[in-house]
Amino acid sequence: MSNDGVNKGRRRFLVGATSVVGAVGAVGVAVPFVASWKPSARARAAGAPATADISKLEPGQQMTVEWRGKPVWIVHRTEEMLANLSQVEDRVSDPTSTGRSALQQPAYAQNEHRSRDPKYLVVIGICTHLGCSPTYRPEVAPSDLGENWMGGFFCPCHGSRFDLAGRVYSGVPAPTNLEVPPYSYENETTIIVGVDEENA
Ligand code: FES
Repeated sequence: MSNDGVNKGRRRFLVGATSVVGAVGAVGVAVPFVASWKPSARARAAGAPATADISKLEPGQQMTVEWRGKPVWIVHRTEEMLANLSQVEDRVSDPTSTGRSALQQPAYAQNEHRSRDPKYLVVIGICTHLGCSPTYRPEVAPSDLGENWMGGFFCPCHGSRFDLAGRVYSGVPAPTNLEVPPYSYENETTIIVGVDEENA
C-alpha cells in the first residue's frame, strides 16, 4: 500500500509539500491580504512547525516531513528494532549521547532510543559529515552492509553508518549522531516538529 509521505525503504522527499498557495479574489481585498500575508512570511522565515500524522505509519515504516527546509524522518520502530539498539552499543561512538553528541538532541531524547516515546524515532535526515541524505536500511544483515548490520541508516556519500536511533558508528566519517529536532505530541497520532516545552 502506498501512502503519501510513507516510505518503506526508499527515500522520498517532497520539497515544497507544505508550500502555501494563496489567491486574491478581488482588488478590493488587497490590503487585508497583505496584512494576513506578513505573519505567514515571518513564520516561514523562522521555520513554522511541521505536523506529522503517524496514524498510518506501520511498524517498521519510515515517513518524511519537511521542517525548516530539511527532511525529518519518523520511524515506527518494532520491538525487535528497539531490542537491537542494545546490541550495537559497543559499536556506536556515543551510545548515551552524552559525549560528542550531547548537543544533538533535546534533553528528553538523551537516552538510548533518542526519543520521547521509544516506539517513534524523530530525526533530521541529514548526514552529520557533509550533509548528504542517508538511506533507510531497516533490514538485518543485508549482503551489502554485512552480517553485523542491525538496521539503521547508511550514507552513500562516504559510508557513514547510523543505527535505528540515529547513533553514529565508530570509525566512520560522520562525527556525531543524527540530530533530533525539538518535537512534541499533539495527541497519540500527531507529532509536531519544531514545538516542544522550550518554544511552545
Ligand atoms: S556526507 Fe555522509 S558520509 Fe559523508
